[in-house]
Amino acid sequence: MVKIGILGLGTVGTGTAQILLDPIGRHHLLGKVEIAKVGVQSIDKPRNVQLAPETLTSDLDSIVSDPNIDIIVEVMGGIEPARSLILKAIAHGKHIVTANKALISRFGDEIYTAANQAGVYVMLEAAVGGGIPVIQPLKQSLSVNRINRVTGIINGTTNYILTRMTEEGGEFADILADAQALGYAEADPTADVDGLDAGDKIAILASLAFGDRIKREEVHCAGIRKVGATDIAYATKLGYVIKLLAIAERSPDASVAVRVHPTLLLKSHPLASVNGVFNAILVEGDPLGQVMLFGPGAGAGATASSVVSDIVVVIGAMLSKSSGDAMNPLMNCPHQKYATMSLLENLVGRFYVRFRTKDLPGTIGYIGTTFGNHHVSIESIVQTSVSKNGAEIVVITGEVTESNFQQALKAIEQLPAIQSIPAILNVVR
Ligand code: HSE
Repeated sequence: MVKIGILGLGTVGTGTAQILLDPIGRHHLLGKVEIAKVGVQSIDKPRNVQLAPETLTSDLDSIVSDPNIDIIVEVMGGIEPARSLILKAIAHGKHIVTANKALISRFGDEIYTAANQAGVYVMLEAAVGGGIPVIQPLKQSLSVNRINRVTGIINGTTNYILTRMTEEGGEFADILADAQALGYAEADPTADVDGLDAGDKIAILASLAFGDRIKREEVHCAGIRKVGATDIAYATKLGYVIKLLAIAERSPDASVAVRVHPTLLLKSHPLASVNGVFNAILVEGDPLGQVMLFGPGAGAGATASSVVSDIVVVIGAMLSKSSGDAMNPLMNCPHQKYATMSLLENLVGRFYVRFRTKDLPGTIGYIGTTFGNHHVSIESIVQTSVSKNGAEIVVITGEVTESNFQQALKAIEQLPAIQSIPAILNVVR
């Protein structure tokens, strides 16, 4: 039997134990698994899974150093004590299966260096996209392609909020409050709505797609707090939806840009119809073209499915290792160096800008001319209404460099008719 120690018995830990305790009709290797210990904060708390009482312990250190345990499943989340416990488990020669994107995106370098030295595997399918198999495909089947872009809707909470804002025409704050009441958003929604959770996940995907380590602090994250019902309504009129996209791109000079921001997405784009709490990841590579992976990005069963799939993969590797094979090179991240990041000002993209202006003759002309003077071509420009308070003008640009776009905006801000620029968003077609 392969003995498993589970750190944490929350949503994902409970889902994992439920699958492991009910192996019939699933992968045959699950018949070889025994849950040896489960580390919890409170032993007496009522649980949705039947475990022998002697399995539960609040002494998590004793689990990671237990000589009988082969694999540690870390599903407690957070940086500490998860980081120290994982490093200690590695030092005791145990393989790791984790769902901890915050930890791996910040301390992956330290953890994989330790794991590669100790000859153990650290598996993280559950860290990105919940139940969607994306890590293993990026490491294996997709990796023979030269991957140039990974674009994801990888945060279910924000996708749920944006979908409802689009369908109902509501404002962010009202729908967030409702999502919290319904359990779709946390009481402290910061990590989700400010794009930080998606930033952790795209940092991991970028490092697998491009084969270099990514510094988490170099991932630019903007969330959805400032997305207004007005911009969603304009986007709809112009044939777009607004999504929180996580994008990792490799330029021809091999530099890499990794960012998360609300984005106008053409309605015909493959990711545009991914709604509600669902996640999807679009991988673009040469010669493959586009592959999109879609599914449930969170939840007990979905995330546990990814955790248990990693357990099965590790058991397979343990069996081949015990027959004398070396460590499987397809399993741990082999990266030696950090990626060279692209300079922000050189990035090329399209933009949506909403101007509030006075109702003065020639304003649209002046905006167009000023964009033109800075090599920014306009793809569409609309003004839907004028009132005594002024007008609202919305522009979608063609492809421009970030630096030309920013210079044009600075010049436009100086025009006498411009009152404010309430929204600037990226656009993807
Ligand atoms: N909080 C995440 C989300 C799920 O809303 O997608 C866990 O990664």
